[in-house]
Amino acid sequence: MKPKVLVTREVFDETFDFLARFFEIESNQSDAPLTPAQLANRLADKEGALTTLSERIDAALLAQCPKLKAVCNIAVGFNNIDLKACQAHGVMATNTPGVLDDSTADFTLALILATARRVTEAEQYLRAGKWSGWKLKQFLGTDVHHATLGILGMGRVGQAVARRAHGFEMTVLYHNSRRLSAEVEKNCGAAYVSMDELFARADILTVHTPYSPATHHLLGAAQFAKMKPGAILINAARGGVVDDTALIEALKRGTIAAAGLDVFENEPTLNPDFLKLTNVVLTPHIASSSEATRRRMAMLAAENLVAALTTGKPPNLLHPPA
Ligand code: DGY
Repeated sequence: MKPKVLVTREVFDETFDFLARFFEIESNQSDAPLTPAQLANRLADKEGALTTLSERIDAALLAQCPKLKAVCNIAVGFNNIDLKACQAHGVMATNTPGVLDDSTADFTLALILATARRVTEAEQYLRAGKWSGWKLKQFLGTDVHHATLGILGMGRVGQAVARRAHGFEMTVLYHNSRRLSAEVEKNCGAAYVSMDELFARADILTVHTPYSPATHHLLGAAQFAKMKPGAILINAARGGVVDDTALIEALKRGTIAAAGLDVFENEPTLNPDFLKLTNVVLTPHIASSSEATRRRMAMLAAENLVAALTTGKPPNLLHPPA
């Protein structure tokens, strides 16, 4: 008998076919998010789960899933998973590091350019039939080339953004919980500065920290006040790292000039005030969503699940066994 697993959301055919070689699968290919009660119900007799960042895996859920041995997230971020609770229940948890760095960095550059050069605002104007002709002062934006880029959180994605920024001849500064080696700094062409110096000097500040209690509202009113008046904020990391209410206020007051956001607090519910602002570019958490990358993420998560339930040693285990 094959072990039973749950696939919580729609996946690619090749991911499904791969898992089917090893497991009896119950799946939610309709892709409608499961409520916590539905998730608990479906996981009650399962040994493994292929999950996404939309499902909360916590102590309350795990208490209802006595057979569960592995939860494999299709994401590098894992703030939806309570690792301590997993450990306490003897459940392995995994993520998908490495495979989405370049796509996320590409998209960060897309957000930087779209925000600085007002691409979506201008397109909406054109689509609304408002364009009556070329004007000298139309949609004046901010130059990206030769600007100072501040990177807050210099892990794999932050480093990939830094390397790309040199194509625009930007000055690259970074702050990270620990300073990188001289070799990595050289490779990224990035100079380490304090957080306050980063805020004071960056024309464009891009966030690449994971979300955890330690980074909750890392950027709020006090930090926006330290930034340059014309500065732009980019967040393609996680909602919650930025205090959305404070950001909206800062954007309204002109404390900072604009923001490009792929992630939000309480997503997919958006603070409606974002929609009223013209100085924001808003996208629905798609920074890693190139077809090749999303396929790789799903397959890596599936490989973790197979390894977890067949060898007990998934390649991307997030915590030591209990
Ligand atoms: C991740 O992998 O954490 C991304 O946010 C998913 O899109």
